[in-house]
Amino acid sequence: MSYETITVEQRDNVTLVTLNRPQALNALNSQVLEDLVEAFAAFEADDSQGCLVLTGAGEKAFAAGADIKEMADKPAADFYNEDFFARWTSHLVKATRKPWIAAVNGFALGGGCELAMMADFILASDKAKFGQPEIKLGVAPGMGGSQRLTRAVGKAKAMEMCLTGRMMDAEEAERSGLVARVVPHDDLVEDAVKTAKAIAGMPPMAAKVNKEMVNAAYETFLDQGVLHERRLFQILTATEDKVEGMKAFIEKREGEWKGK
Ligand code: CAA
Repeated sequence: MSYETITVEQRDNVTLVTLNRPQALNALNSQVLEDLVEAFAAFEADDSQGCLVLTGAGEKAFAAGADIKEMADKPAADFYNEDFFARWTSHLVKATRKPWIAAVNGFALGGGCELAMMADFILASDKAKFGQPEIKLGVAPGMGGSQRLTRAVGKAKAMEMCLTGRMMDAEEAERSGLVARVVPHDDLVEDAVKTAKAIAGMPPMAAKVNKEMVNAAYETFLDQGVLHERRLFQILTATEDKVEGMKAFIEKREGEWKGK
């Protein structure tokens, strides 16, 4: 199977996936998502494969974020109606019950940091840099970064990183609990594959169960869910369909919807 934006190789019982758009610092566009969804599904379905490692091609980046060039001219209604970013979580997190590791070899910014945090744990090269700089683009994390970063490093550091966009180096990331271990840059992929092989050698069902148990610590609390719902409701009050819907009710007629 060949892919447009990633490479995939099997090293015995470990699947090594490499983001392969180094000219764009491995920015995550829709094709990357399609390719990853397919590669992760193939890994999940293949009983000979027990653990996956995800890394980035090139010297500089794991992934420098969601592809800004793809998002720049996209209307807000399209982001909502397509539920943009939803498939990252549903496929790479929810549908992947086997363990996988992010081997972060350089910049992991915005969606790149969020993708790394979707992994069961992160191994970082000593050149890795993590950040959520979306605020500088007038937006905010959209692939779970505000939630996963806060759970990993606590409110103070997560808030500072999201509000200033500053990057965290590998040493600080390890000290803060964002990464499991820092590895010399040149050894990163071999170390990650070796670690993945140790995991792949465990009883497969016990590996899935251990993963599920640790992930249970990330369950949504009621307060968060209610706040999330309230904020989305407040955003909907800005749509033309809300104005039409309420007007139609008062005028005792069916509404005519525009989807925006
Ligand atoms: N999307 C699209 N292209 C990107 C990109 C991104 N996120 N990040 C880098 N690139 C491209 C650059 O446009 C450039 O392309 P060209 O050669 O065609 O101009 C190429 O990759 C190399 O980048 P730079 O020349 O900028 O490299 P640098 O070494 O000078 O800087 C960097 C490196 C600091 C990482 C810088 O590229 C940068 O700040 N990138 C954007 C980081 C960012 O804002 N990420 C968040 C994106 S939004 C998001 O992810 C939303 C979400 O929550 C999911």
